[in-house]
Amino acid sequence: MTKSPVWAIWPDSKVPSDSNPSAVNPRPPTVHRPHTPAALTAIQSRALRRPGARMGCSKPALPPESNDEVPGLCYTTVVATFSGKRVMVFGGAGFVGSHLCERLLADGAAGVVAVDNLCTGAEGNVAHLGKDARFELVRHDVTEPLGLQGPVDVLFNLASPASPFDYAKLWLETLRAGALGTQHALELAEKTGAVMLQASTSEVYGDPIVHPQVESYTGNVDCTGPRAVYDEAKRYAETLVMGFHRHRGVKTRIARIFNTYGPRMRLQDGRVVPAFVSQALKGQDFTVFGDGSQTRCFCYVADLVDGLVRLALSDVTEPVNLGNPEERTIREFAEAVRRAVGGGGKIVTKPLPQGDPKVRRPDITRAKTLLGWAPKVGLDEGLARTIEYFRAVV
Ligand SMILES: NC(=O)c1ccc[n+]([C@@H]2O[C@H](COP(=O)([O-])OP(=O)(O)OC[C@H]3O[C@@H](n4cnc5c(N)ncnc54)[C@H](O)[C@@H]3O)[C@@H](O)[C@H]2O)c1
Repeated sequence: MTKSPVWAIWPDSKVPSDSNPSAVNPRPPTVHRPHTPAALTAIQSRALRRPGARMGCSKPALPPESNDEVPGLCYTTVVATFSGKRVMVFGGAGFVGSHLCERLLADGAAGVVAVDNLCTGAEGNVAHLGKDARFELVRHDVTEPLGLQGPVDVLFNLASPASPFDYAKLWLETLRAGALGTQHALELAEKTGAVMLQASTSEVYGDPIVHPQVESYTGNVDCTGPRAVYDEAKRYAETLVMGFHRHRGVKTRIARIFNTYGPRMRLQDGRVVPAFVSQALKGQDFTVFGDGSQTRCFCYVADLVDGLVRLALSDVTEPVNLGNPEERTIREFAEAVRRAVGGGGKIVTKPLPQGDPKVRRPDITRAKTLLGWAPKVGLDEGLARTIEYFRAVV
């Protein structure tokens, strides 16, 4: 017997709402599998065709703080929360995406659809959300057309391999995600009138000559270097976003995300936080590339997600840096991990990979001024929460 389509998310009568936030739609267990375009269209029509406020300007939620520090940018109004919104998250089963889906549901979204091909994400990251009738995971490669129609209020595009290990291995997939995935997200936003938020990266600044990095800095990227598949895909994606905004009137947002860490990072993804934490937990030496004097900043994932949410609810179309401006050398960071874990060996060095940035620190004046956003979670607290997670998986 064939099963009914998977993400028939919720009959209207059972949709949790402001007046009945705890309504839960009993439904058969979710099975994730690729959908045909026709099935996707039917599913989305059912799931997302509900009346509800679209992105608008009714209730300014964040204090309209002074724009004096950011000439040329104007802050008008934002909608208070995601309550009642239908949201799609491309890359929603990844590290950041899964935390974002959680936050959107907690904020009262009417529906959250994560679209992910699981190339670097995992179904397990969002398995706990499957109990919520408002959530659905759709397994789909966003570089292929989506075939979705119907109302969406906000679309977050996070779908891209993101760690240096991943994008070295998935180099063509990374270029395609930046180009085709972003175009498909923008076309869907154009069709539905949704706000489209692009997850960009500090890598658009390359190996920066301007420090700290302010959004007006145009970067120092080697377009033929080993990191270019990621950096240039993200730069092209930003260009695409601005094209759809300028020429087709799509409501777009660009978040330039700096190094973010927290639970659900993959142990083996090659990023410095899981690498050092797992080495410390196993009592191994810390592997440092170069002499360890290069600097990085570390933003806890909850802070980043708060910035993404605020940016989506604002009307700021210029790129906005989101990151923690506390800067540390990689050696200092290794010592912080050693203290937090209470273990770990000595620091051993390996040659610095080509193109590795020597410094990284966001100037977050724009985010502070326009979004009222600044990170709140300090490194000690963020590391403690992250280590707790990794203790269970190492
Ligand atoms: N975590 C960071 O420090 C950081 C920094 C800068 C930018 N970003 C950006 O934030 C986003 C999320 O990063 P992350 O750290 O959560 O990485 P991640 O690898 O955990 O998440 C990316 C998700 O996108 C999915 N994906 C990739 N290609 C896809 C495709 N073609 N179709 C559908 N799904 C696809 C993956 O399966 C994964 O679930 C990325 O766009 C990344 O470039 C992250």
